[in-house]
Amino acid sequence: MILREMLVDDLEQVMKIETELFSPPWTKEGFFTYLTRKDAMFLVVEEKGEILAYCGLLMVLDEGDITNVAVRPDRQREGIGHFLMDSLIRLAEQQGITTIHLEVRVGNRTAIRLYERMGFTRDGIRKKYYTDPVEDALLMTRQAQKVPQN
Ligand SMILES: CC(C)(COP(=O)(O)OP(=O)(O)OC[C@H]1O[C@@H](n2cnc3c(N)ncnc32)[C@H](O)[C@@H]1OP(=O)(O)O)[C@@H](O)C(=O)NCCC(=O)NCCS
Repeated sequence: MILREMLVDDLEQVMKIETELFSPPWTKEGFFTYLTRKDAMFLVVEEKGEILAYCGLLMVLDEGDITNVAVRPDRQREGIGHFLMDSLIRLAEQQGITTIHLEVRVGNRTAIRLYERMGFTRDGIRKKYYTDPVEDALLMTRQAQKVPQN
C-alpha cells in the first residue's frame, strides 16, 4: 500500500468511488482542476494499481480546508482512513499549515470519530449545508501542536 499524489490517470477509479459514496458527488472536472494547482494537495492510497482511498486539501497561507476524504467501500474499517488523514496532516504541516478545517454531515459518526481521534474538535453547525438528503454540517478544526521553543 503506497501513498502518493493523485494523477489525472487515477480519475476513472476515483470517480467510481466518489459516485458510490457521495450524493451529490464531485465531478471529474472538479477533481481535474485541482490536480495541477499549487495550493491543493490531493493524495491517493494505492495497492497493486488499485485506488483504495483519496483525500484533498486546499491551502491558503497557514490554513487548510479538507475537501474530500473517501475510502473504497469494500476496504473501509481497516485503518486506511486513519492512515490517509494522518499522512495528509503531516504533509500539510510540513508545508506550514497550522490550522485545518473540515465539514462533515452531522450523521456521519464514523468520520466524526475518526476526525476526533486525529485531534479535530467541534466548532459549530452549519444548518442545512448538505443536499440529497438535506443535512446539517458539523464544522471541525485541528490546530497543529506547538513545538516547545527550548
Ligand atoms: C469515513 C471514512 C473515510 C473512514 O475510513 P476508514 O478507512 O473506514 O477508517 P478507519 O478504518 O481508519 O476507521 C473506521 C473504523 O474502523 C475501525 N477499524 C480500523 N481498523 C480496523 C480493523 N483492522 N478492524 C476492525 N475495525 C477497524 C476504527 O476503529 C473505526 O471504528 P469506529 O468508527 O467505531 O471508531 C470511510 O468510512 C468513508 O470513506 N466513508 C464514506 C465517505 C465519507 O463519509 N467520507 C467523509 C466525508 S467528510
